[in-house]
Amino acid sequence: MKDEYNRQISYMRLSVTDKCNFNCSYCKGDSFSTLTDVMSFDEMYEICKAFVKCGIDKIRLTGGEPLLREGIVDFCKRLSSIEGLNSLVMTTNGCLLKHYAKDLKRAGVSRLNISLDTLNKDKFNKLTGIDAFDDVIEGIYEAQECGFKNIKINVVLMGGINDDEIADFIELTKNNDFTIRFIELMPLGACSQWDKARFISSDLVLKTNENLERITFDGVSEIYRVNGYKGRIGLIRPMTNKFCDVCNRIRVTADGKIKPCLHSNDEYNIRGLSGLELQNAIKNAIASKPKSHNMNSFCLSNSTRYMNQIGG
Ligand code: 5AD
Ligand code: SF4
Repeated sequence: MKDEYNRQISYMRLSVTDKCNFNCSYCKGDSFSTLTDVMSFDEMYEICKAFVKCGIDKIRLTGGEPLLREGIVDFCKRLSSIEGLNSLVMTTNGCLLKHYAKDLKRAGVSRLNISLDTLNKDKFNKLTGIDAFDDVIEGIYEAQECGFKNIKINVVLMGGINDDEIADFIELTKNNDFTIRFIELMPLGACSQWDKARFISSDLVLKTNENLERITFDGVSEIYRVNGYKGRIGLIRPMTNKFCDVCNRIRVTADGKIKPCLHSNDEYNIRGLSGLELQNAIKNAIASKPKSHNMNSFCLSNSTRYMNQIGG
């Protein structure tokens, strides 16, 4: 389905919970749901089916932390059997992955994005507020063992915090088929008041390693590789090179609101709707996607939801 600016919208991100067992300093995820009315999996399933009828062929499950939601594996199983859905993927903080990777693979999840902002255990504890570094690392390798290919590791770049680790992250791609994706920090929610020095351009990655060769652009990230290395490096530049022109995504919150744009406060309730009424509401929300966001390092995002309520 096309929006008003002729963008083909084919990718839906569903936040299954706003709960998170991490408390990343830029996000401030919350171990208690601040949403009082999270949808049941039955409601989410009906919504996903309707999205697929409207032309969505890829669904990403996000959170908070999606693996905290009880019944998530069965939900994945149900979703992956929806006819017309080509790809079911998930973004996770990785902490519970060593327990879930095998079941997720069996349930039809085809790819994983895992958040990991530092390779230093002490820094990890400070950044996330939880002593789970080893669990995440084990989770990543367990997922690889279980047959997940091209695992993407999301690294939010923060000046003065992890910009000294870029070279170490690049080295991880030497022997592993990972894509390390450096994401520019966006002034959303908890970090919107942070010092400007924390917001750095991902150009720094290219300056750190002059051997990075650009291979392609996959829609959101510019992909590079060091010749001879197994994995890849991705740069996601929401701040210095926004990709609104090619945006193909739409988001649904755990309480049943469509967010046509991450940085806008516009939301459309679709909870309680069914059949054609639901499909029409989805089509109207897609049609209303704004042309682009106005956010830059001087102008904050307009969204008042915190990231744990949107799922990135
Ligand atoms: N800026 C950039 N990325 C963010 N994420 C969460 N908050 C921000 C922010 N303010 C990332 C997480 C995760 C993904 C879902 O979004 O680290 O990898
Ligand atoms: Fe949790 Fe993700 Fe927020 Fe970190 S960024 S607190 S892992 S929701």
